[in-house]
Amino acid sequence: MPAMLLRDPEHGDAPMDRRDFLGLLTRAFLWLSGAAGLVGLVRFLSYDPEPTIIGRYTLEPPAAYPPDSITPISEARAILVRDQVGFFARSLVCPHLGCVVEKGDGGYQCPCHGSRFGEVGELISGPAKRSLDSIWLGLDEAGRLVVDVRLDVPREWRLIL
Ligand code: FES
Repeated sequence: MPAMLLRDPEHGDAPMDRRDFLGLLTRAFLWLSGAAGLVGLVRFLSYDPEPTIIGRYTLEPPAAYPPDSITPISEARAILVRDQVGFFARSLVCPHLGCVVEKGDGGYQCPCHGSRFGEVGELISGPAKRSLDSIWLGLDEAGRLVVDVRLDVPREWRLIL
């Protein structure tokens, strides 16, 4: 086999043999793999979480929400769910790293790292490790529903009327 035309800078003008060429190829592959991994890491970390919404939001009276309904509460980045048992609210802030999930087919998807949630916020696939968080829900003096995103509540917090 004729000598390759590549020149090895470590050995002056001597032609590069097959072993050196394969070594060079391996190093180039490792550098490219590292660069690709770094790009992936930067993309993973460059998510764009929305600023946290802190507050209390007054909604309509319970009768305004039909049974088996899901109502977006955009100002609170949440949904209000009324099922056959009662009411509950779930945050639309992804429990992974804080991006706001988007409505999609059959539920919600996080635009940052791809976590998927069902219609009422149950976890379908990660990287998130849990379902969408529950939000405190109660009634004010006038009998209207109120959600308060400041209060921690148990996962199954539910208002039964
Ligand atoms: S913020 Fe990472 S999956 Fe939602």
